[in-house]
Order: sequence, then structure tokens, then C-alpha cells
Amino acid sequence: MANELRFDGRVAIVTGAGNGLGRAHALLLASRGAKVVVNDLGGGRHGGGTSSEAADKVVAEIKAAGGEAVANYDSVEQGSRIVQSALDAFGRIDIVVNNAGILRDVTFHKMTEEDWELIYRVHVLGSFRVTHAAWPHMRDQGYGRIIFTSSAAGIYGNFGQANYSMAKLGIVGLSNTLALEGKKKNVLVNTIAPLAGSRLTETVLPKELIDALKPEYVSPLVAYLCHESSSETGGLFEVGGGFFAKLRWERAEGKTVRLGRGIKVEDLQKDWNKVAGFDTTTHPAEINQSMGPVMANVQAGPAKGGNEFIDVDQALGY
Ligand code: NAI
Repeated sequence: MANELRFDGRVAIVTGAGNGLGRAHALLLASRGAKVVVNDLGGGRHGGGTSSEAADKVVAEIKAAGGEAVANYDSVEQGSRIVQSALDAFGRIDIVVNNAGILRDVTFHKMTEEDWELIYRVHVLGSFRVTHAAWPHMRDQGYGRIIFTSSAAGIYGNFGQANYSMAKLGIVGLSNTLALEGKKKNVLVNTIAPLAGSRLTETVLPKELIDALKPEYVSPLVAYLCHESSSETGGLFEVGGGFFAKLRWERAEGKTVRLGRGIKVEDLQKDWNKVAGFDTTTHPAEINQSMGPVMANVQAGPAKGGNEFIDVDQALGY
């Protein structure tokens, strides 16, 4: 293909690449010329056990197709060892796809600290450690592309997944800030919330859906965001089954109560639709925009005159 987006000379780490989505990302990047570290500790879907088989199989697939890859069997909790594998095998690191994941689904009242901690360690700490180890290399070379893997469960909540939801939305926060910190050095950071048939979803989705939602339908977005031609950063994308869409925050019109008089509970009751309704909305995309109405109200100062004027500090006893 004439205008094929290529990754020749680029080195990518894909974590959890022995199965499902990670395998599909690794195969696609390798088919486009990237040298790939196929990381997978080869455990079960709930985090138990280890095996070199999963990563080895994908490396063999990549090589059979004429690509270049090495296996790494460390847990993402040993992030620096995974990055070292890339440096040892290929001498650089350009792309990190944080994908490894497990589930410990259980309703909150039955959740143990171990269920909570394990999910945090693999998803959040693992993503942090791999990325943190790759970060200085990317900054120094003025080039990097990082993908984090979130989930609709984090964005919207999902019954029985309090631990997983916490971890998956934590990753979005990490990604948002790294996007700001990496931009000047051309280190671009995005997050996907995928949907795909895999061993993680085979127990919750019907068989027809598992078969229809192929992991390889997600990977083109990962590859696009990791390509040098993309300038996208700080994005969160829903992707699966052939659907691709960026998400953003939407804020209600809001109600501003002029300062200097007491803010009454009834003020909120009266204008609840402005506070919580979405007839009129804005889309703050950065922290300054988020703070805009607050700062404007503070700068407007206390309302003057009228019986309503009171000294709030005095009223609150400060
Ligand atoms: P999968 O179970 O098919 O693949 C995950 C891979 O990660 C496995 O090969 C596993 O051995 C590996 N892994 C687990 N813990 C690891 C660790 N500590 N270090 C290194 N490798 C480890 O699952 P799937 O569905 O491909 O999931 C990939 C990612 O996508 C996960 O982060 C998951 O939470 C996320 N996701 C998947 C969705 C789906 O619909 N399949 C939905 C939303 C998010």
C-alpha cells in the first residue's frame, strides 16, 4: 500500500501481549515494521501462575510473518526490567502500550483488601512502572508514544468491579497529566477504553459477541495513536467492534451564587436544573477552563447592598 503508516526503526513494548488485545497490537505494530518486546507473564485471568508460553507463541507468530520481536516474561510490576529488555535487544524505546490486565470481580461487600490491592498493582502500579522506566529515554530522544488501557467499567462504573473501576479511571488521570508533561518533548500519551472478545470478557459476554468483537478491530487505533504522524495527545477513546470515538467531559451550565452573602441550601434547590441539567453545557478541556467560573465569581467579589449581604467569614466563625 502506497501510503501505509509504517513503524520501521521504531521499538515498541506491548505489555500483556501473549493474548487478546495485546497480542493483536503487537502483531499489527510488527507487521508495520516495529521491533516489538512481547511482554507477558503468562498467568491466569485472575492473576495466578506464570508461564513463558504466551509470549513465546506471539514472538513466533511475529517472526513467522517476517517481523522482529523478543519475549519478556516479567510482571509489569517489574517495569524497569521490561524496558531494559527493549534496550538490550533493540537499543531504544519509542512506544509503550500498557495493556496487561487481570480481573478480580466481586461485589464491594465481599471484596477483600487483596482483591483491591492486586488489581491496583497490576493495572496502576504496573502501568506506572513500565512508563516511568521508559519516560527518561523518550524525553531524551524527543520522541515517544504511550498508550494506556482503561475501561468503560472505570468511566461509567460496573457492578462487581469496584477495584477494577478504581484502577481503570486512575489510569486516565495518570494519562491526562503525562500528556501535559510529555508534550514539549514530543512524548504523546493517550488512553483507550476497548471492548473485545478475550479470556477476560468470555465469562461475561455471550459467545456470539465474543466471536464478533475481535481484538484486531481495536489495534488500528493503537497503531494510529502511536504513529509519528499523529499529534493527538491526552485523548480518551472508546473503541471496539469497528467503532472509534473520543470522549470528553461535559459540564452543566452551572449556577453561580454571588459571594458575600450566605449560600443557602434553597439556592441550589431553586436552580437544581442549572446545576445538574444538561440542556446548556460546556466542555472544559483543561484545568484553567475548569476553574474559570470559580475565578470569575471570586474576582466579581461580594455582592453589594441589600439585606442579603453578610460577611461569610464572620458568619462561619473564621
Ligand atoms: P487477556 O486476558 O486476553 O490478556 C491480558 C494479558 O495480560 C494476558 O496474556 C495476561 O497473561 C497478561 N498479564 C496479566 N497480568 C500481567 C502482569 N502482571 N504482567 C504482564 N502481563 C500480565 O485480556 P484482554 O481482554 O486482552 O485485556 C487487555 C487489556 O484491556 C486489559 O488491561 C483489560 O483490563 C483491558 N480491557 C479489556 C476489555 C475487553 O473487552 N477485552 C474491556 C476493557 C478493558
